[in-house]
Amino acid sequence: MKKLSFTLFVLLLVACSTTKSTLDPSVHGLYGKEAMVVSAHPLASEVGAEILRKGGNAWDAAIAVQFALSVVYPVAGNIGGGGFAVFRDSQGNVGSLDFREKAPINAERDMFLDKEGNVNGRKSLEGHLASGVPGSVDGMVRLFDRFGSLPWTELVQPAIDLAEKGFILTESGAANLNRARELIKKLNTKPVFLVREESWKSGDRFIQNDLANTLDRISKQGRDGFYSGLTAQLIVEEMQRGNGIITLDDLADYQSVWRDPLIGNYRGKRIISMPPPSSGGVALLQLLESIESYPIAKYGHNHWKTIHVMTEIEKRVYADRATYLGDPDFYEVPVTMLLDDQYLTDRMSSIDFKEATPSEEIKEGRVDVIESVETTHFSIVDAQGNAVAVTTTLNSYLGSKIMVDGAGFFLNNEMDDFSVKSGVPNQFGLVGAKANEIVPGKRMLSSMTPTIVDDANGLLIVVGTPGGSTIITSVFQTILNVVDHGMNMQQAVNAKRLHHQWLPDRILTEDSTLSPKVKRKLIRLGHAFESRGSIGRVDAILVLPGGSLEGGADPRAQDTAVGF
Ligand code: GLY
Repeated sequence: MKKLSFTLFVLLLVACSTTKSTLDPSVHGLYGKEAMVVSAHPLASEVGAEILRKGGNAWDAAIAVQFALSVVYPVAGNIGGGGFAVFRDSQGNVGSLDFREKAPINAERDMFLDKEGNVNGRKSLEGHLASGVPGSVDGMVRLFDRFGSLPWTELVQPAIDLAEKGFILTESGAANLNRARELIKKLNTKPVFLVREESWKSGDRFIQNDLANTLDRISKQGRDGFYSGLTAQLIVEEMQRGNGIITLDDLADYQSVWRDPLIGNYRGKRIISMPPPSSGGVALLQLLESIESYPIAKYGHNHWKTIHVMTEIEKRVYADRATYLGDPDFYEVPVTMLLDDQYLTDRMSSIDFKEATPSEEIKEGRVDVIESVETTHFSIVDAQGNAVAVTTTLNSYLGSKIMVDGAGFFLNNEMDDFSVKSGVPNQFGLVGAKANEIVPGKRMLSSMTPTIVDDANGLLIVVGTPGGSTIITSVFQTILNVVDHGMNMQQAVNAKRLHHQWLPDRILTEDSTLSPKVKRKLIRLGHAFESRGSIGRVDAILVLPGGSLEGGADPRAQDTAVGF
């Protein structure tokens, strides 16, 4: 009965929906009858929705959103980075594309170590050496070649327009551009237009002429507009001025890879997620498959038992992550073993409701301890029911902070996602092992987890988020919030988040995630806590009974759903 009245309520809402919702955003997302785009920036979501309104499909919209984000959300949206796409067509066929960056051919395992073998300052994070060979443009070209339905130029043009004519900065958009002025000045070999005399403020028009020209070359020449010709030349000249190592051959050789997505089951639903070199899909399936035997819906959302079992499982899964996961093209990742029922049952058998297991007693490799939120995710469903989930990144805020002079875009600092020295934390606390050591041409391990959930009725959820190592647990919680705790999409996105990643041994929480009583109980069991301002920015879509859509845009930033 409750379900029926909810369905009627939603049908009523959808019947009178527009792209703007006047509903309470703490409870409702944006409802749409046909199609939906949820991304980190309102202008990028609008670009995607416009492509869908013109009859473009979800892949067309994804390509347009990726390019638009490189203009309106340059801190993470990119053409100088990489990412992953997971998709499900309207017939239920699934796939994924890996357009993750690669180590340049002249990279060496110990390139970030000094003569004594110690990690050499922040070189894997800042400056020319920090960049992997970018994959985003190749990724978009590959998606287009296989799935595109509108002309390529129509998909790139909105980004060109936004760069050429500019757009008005919001307060947070301006703040984003002002965040690293001194560092950008220090690291770049030529003046960067983004660092002006006066800082950016809300209401300023942000015009990017060089980026418009680069996008125009991509529009006219496709892959060659980036990986050869003038853009490639500008990248290599930039590298040479700053002692970087990316060459014309690196760019010419870059290829995205179609990969079979990882598929698992959770309470009768099919979970479709990203395989290695992302750790996201493996870890997400380990988390879901391990928690399935616990009645967390009965315990309740944020009940101490739910949190205890979630975080105990997270510790064990994250302890596996760094030891076993890396680029499958270079290292045999034991995916089958990690997802084996018996393995997971044995692995979780030490979970005890009377006490927390100290992380030092969970013996496996080491794992990253810091998140970078400067990744971005978007979710798209088109009118035919095709769904695309894309997570893309420069790694840190503005990546390496190096702008390619004359080309107007920032390069990633993804080399820091490698294990710079086996077993030793780097500047940001990232630790890893052989599976993720630097090898020329290899892809660095990622946590990005673009994910799609379906069931016997068809598509159910499209979800993903930025947040470094917290990406996996944020996607995990969003799925639990819908499947176990009966939340709609916006509630599931809004719900406060927490995170445990084995080391350091503490639960990260957003403010007031847990009641003082629940927290006291968990502390008595041996858990420790640390506050984090915000965890993740989930942008997701839920297919409602009857087939209409609810877009859930994360209120933690200016993420926006646009649908119709
Ligand atoms: N650079 C963040 C990630 O790929 O996980």
